[in-house]
Amino acid sequence: MRSLKNVLVTGGAGFIGCNFIRFLLEKTPDFTGRIVNLDALTYAGNAASLADIDSRFGGRRYFFEHGDICDRALVESLFVKYGIDTVVHFAAESHVDRSILGPEAFVKTNVVGTFTLLDAARAAWKEDSGGGFRQDVLFHHIGTDEVYGSLGEAGFFTESTPYDPRSPYSASKAAGDHLVMAYGHTYGLPVTMTNCSNNYGPCQFPEKLIPLMILNMLEGKPLPVYGDGKNIRDWLFVEDHNSAVWTVMRKSASGERYNIGGENEWENIRLLEFLIGVVSEQAGLDIEKVRSSITYVKDRLGHDRRYAVDCSKIKRELCWKRSVDFAEGLSKTVAWYLANTQWVDSIRSGEYQRWVEKNYGERR
Ligand code: NAD
Ligand code: TYD
Repeated sequence: MRSLKNVLVTGGAGFIGCNFIRFLLEKTPDFTGRIVNLDALTYAGNAASLADIDSRFGGRRYFFEHGDICDRALVESLFVKYGIDTVVHFAAESHVDRSILGPEAFVKTNVVGTFTLLDAARAAWKEDSGGGFRQDVLFHHIGTDEVYGSLGEAGFFTESTPYDPRSPYSASKAAGDHLVMAYGHTYGLPVTMTNCSNNYGPCQFPEKLIPLMILNMLEGKPLPVYGDGKNIRDWLFVEDHNSAVWTVMRKSASGERYNIGGENEWENIRLLEFLIGVVSEQAGLDIEKVRSSITYVKDRLGHDRRYAVDCSKIKRELCWKRSVDFAEGLSKTVAWYLANTQWVDSIRSGEYQRWVEKNYGERR
């Protein structure tokens, strides 16, 4: 087992990263180290998601650094300042629709940013003598299942499925993944990687399907379903993703990669119907009225039909399994959005309104 002491989390103010930091500091007794959260606070980053963590652990076990992962001098200085021995790289531009309307930021952050972190780690972790690296270091990269492309009705993504990215988002993530594995292979940098299916849970930015639909239901707005609504995604509660990441970081051999999934496939329209039931019950809405708000809109360009992950390798080799089923996870998620109206209001700035108009205005 690796002991990971001074952990640089990139993108820790985003959805999965903030849940990861909370998971490590609140629910992981075998982690006793320090966390440095490097985040550029783009539209998707929100320091308020960790305000309570900051007041409880700030200055002792939790440190926030506002900055860009592409800034080499800053990244290098953080390795020195905090004696970083572990990187968990979540930071990314992460939304497919935004990548279609503006791909450049995706190449910068997901490709150049990943390269910058890898190269800074390579320099910082070199052994003083010989060409090797310190034994106590690890670069863990957070990947997506979308790099594998789109499935037909049958089959699953395994770790050996050839890459076939089909959106600017997944192509830029694929490039980042390749750099990580190349740094492991060429230089011997200790790297691990996970590729996960669609996450849901607290603090997800409401441009993604589940929080967007929850908030639109609460406001009596249309529920925009792309295309025929029969695209399929495999959904996993965010805390289960993070427990899998931590398991890999602690137990996996260097150079290994693992798929993570929920074994929980849903057609979008069926998921929406299920979610309507949960939201209507918790918020006391008229379910028939909410149902009548479903609106089919113009499809996403190049919309991948089906994602489904085979996660038998991590289950078999590292004994990980998910602990939250979909009904429980959705119920927790809806309850969180109902209870955290201040968080919701704080992120729905002018920028968010402009995005909604740009993305959905074009689909009418
Ligand atoms: P997110 O968009 O909610 O958060 C991304 C975070 O990265 C934000 O806090 C943002 O401010 C920060 N960031 C963006 N560019 C940056 C830069 N140049 N420098 C520093 N910080 C920057 O994303 P998420 O949903 O939390 O996803 C996190 C990671 O998990 C990503 O790598 C994504 O590809 C991967 N992933 C996500 C899902 C999912 O369903 N959300 C599934 C599988 C994998
Ligand atoms: P999303 O949450 O954007 O995740 P991803 O595209 O990375 O899987 O979308 C999930 C699915 O929901 C995807 O098939 C697109 C669809 N979708 C809609 O039908 N309507 C929407 O408004 C959004 C945002 C997504």
